[in-house]
Amino acid sequence: MNQPAMQGLNLGTPSYVKNARLIAWVADMAALCKPDSIYWCDGSQEEYDRLCQQLVDAGTFKKLNAAKRPNSFLACSDPTDVARVEDRTYICSEKKENAGPTNNWMAPAEMRATLQPLFDGCMKGRTMYVVPFSMGPLGSPIAHIGIELSDSPYVAVNMRIMTRMGKAVYDVLGDGLDGKGEFVPCVHTVGAPLQAGQADVQWPCNKTKYIVHYPETREIWSYGSGYGGNALLGKKCFALRIASTMGQSEGWLAEHMLILGVTNPQGKKYHVAAAFPSACGKTNFAMLIPPAGFEGWKVTTIGDDIAWIKPQANGKLHAINPEAGYFGVAPGTNQLTNPNCMASLNENAIFTNVALTDDGDVWWEGMSEPPAHCIDWQGKDWTPAVAKATGAKAAHPNARFTVAATNNPALDSAWDDPAGVPIDAFIFGGRRSTTVPLVTQARNWTEGVYMAATMGSETTAAATSAAGVVRRDPFAMLPFIGYNMSDYFQHWLNLGKKLEATGAKLPGIFCVNWFRKGEDGQFVWPGYGENMRVLKWMIDRLENRAPGKEHVFGVSPSYNELTWTGLQFTPEQFNTVTSIDKAAWQAELKLHAELFEQLAHHLPTEMSATKAQIEQRLAA
Ligand code: GTP
Ligand code: SPV
Ligand code: MN
Repeated sequence: MNQPAMQGLNLGTPSYVKNARLIAWVADMAALCKPDSIYWCDGSQEEYDRLCQQLVDAGTFKKLNAAKRPNSFLACSDPTDVARVEDRTYICSEKKENAGPTNNWMAPAEMRATLQPLFDGCMKGRTMYVVPFSMGPLGSPIAHIGIELSDSPYVAVNMRIMTRMGKAVYDVLGDGLDGKGEFVPCVHTVGAPLQAGQADVQWPCNKTKYIVHYPETREIWSYGSGYGGNALLGKKCFALRIASTMGQSEGWLAEHMLILGVTNPQGKKYHVAAAFPSACGKTNFAMLIPPAGFEGWKVTTIGDDIAWIKPQANGKLHAINPEAGYFGVAPGTNQLTNPNCMASLNENAIFTNVALTDDGDVWWEGMSEPPAHCIDWQGKDWTPAVAKATGAKAAHPNARFTVAATNNPALDSAWDDPAGVPIDAFIFGGRRSTTVPLVTQARNWTEGVYMAATMGSETTAAATSAAGVVRRDPFAMLPFIGYNMSDYFQHWLNLGKKLEATGAKLPGIFCVNWFRKGEDGQFVWPGYGENMRVLKWMIDRLENRAPGKEHVFGVSPSYNELTWTGLQFTPEQFNTVTSIDKAAWQAELKLHAELFEQLAHHLPTEMSATKAQIEQRLAA
């Protein structure tokens, strides 16, 4: 080593790490980032406990009351580091057109030149954690390995929950001499080096942020944020952005989808994958408990955020959840909206940006009656009176929990099966107060791709942008596609043709909207567990048991096709959530046109053709 900072820094590579490319890369990154020390994570419980205690000692974690919430912690971030930063997220493909008009782009060489001085010395005064992880069951043919280098112990402990993290990964990697041993290198820094003697802060980060992907070389570089999707690089960066480009070249899909199993009283099981934008109900739907009137039905969770979906020789699509935990939205979660989730949070959980109660437990808006006093996510005193006067939230609207999938009482027995589960239906759903009906089935694959491609949704707190504005969010993948959006539509169309050619029955494609509002501004559809009524209608459609009603956009149920036992919901209310307003649809189609203009380069002709058919039906 000729870099002065490397003199005396021992890589300390454990004897079980044998992959030469990995060791050389760690050495290079250490020379660049100049950490004080390197720590190789083994993924053990002892290590997790030790790092959590270290985070407590550093003031990043507060240990919660062990009698109320055993082995659980609260982290409160810097107020400027609370969500994904979409405007700082880049797809650096060699050609701009391969990133497409919906992604930020910079030429790889230019980006590397930009990042070089930022990463130079970025870990001074800190430890570089080497975090080995597998997305998908270890050693499975569908799984992929990543190594994240991070100067954040918060990242290391969260990665242990969210992925299969630990030294067994190195057995799968081997020595790399057999030409196997591929991994995605992920470098992450909070971008806050410490000078000698300088005290650390509770949540180090940098106001400059870069979340960078090089799809051709399959690398991820993340600078300046410690938060969720910006820092836990196995999740959005790898399992969606990089994996979507792998899927494009290898013929599979990486999707922003939950996966659930639903078993009817006769014991027949179906599998559904559903794409909703961030903070629009994937975790809730994935853990649904069937309501009164649905005795004998069971819903089980395979995944709550990401699906990797591969076509099989028999024409079936099989899906796995590449993750091992849930990084879910806390606010709004309660015993009524999601009892399985509440049970998942009883122990061994990490909370980020929720409130701390006086008895050392957590609270967030919508969890229960507000406490008389608590400490809000910014460390300030919070009382219902303060909230009323100032509007201050006890928990940040994008506050999150991290828990292992194995905490979920509704976990599907096949959640860890390397073969995945066969998908019977896809659901796409945005957050729309108007226009889009409760549920619609596409008449065929192409119409389904159109529905997904033109999906709109009111933005949420999951990203640092204005919330509540309708934006097009194709396939709920706008912030997550790693290549050109139009090429992605084409990829879906091609996949449909390939499946059709096997003679197999294609999955049904549905579009849902739980979020239509009445004149009083309130949600009309009760949602949550009651969404089971819509799920059952979809299954009835798959089994040809529901005739449905055709309209301009697809096929929706008439009132008497849904099971209403156990719920008071009048035909008038049903009409409010299912009616098709022609004027609103004409305005909607203008927005589709705007989207297609933006995506004109490589836009499949099927998209404009389907739009023309809808316009004809609207005019008739
Ligand atoms: P990410 O983790 O950000 O990808 O999001 P997610 O889709 O998993 O979001 P989650 O399930 O945590 O959604 C949380 C938000 O959706 C909260 O504001 C909930 O109140 C709301 N929500 C979920 N299901 C329903 C529903 O059926 N009806 C209504 N009205 N709101 C819902
Ligand atoms: C999302 O925003 O869709 C999430 C949370 O699932 S994060 O991992 O922070 O991106
Ligand atoms: Mn998500």
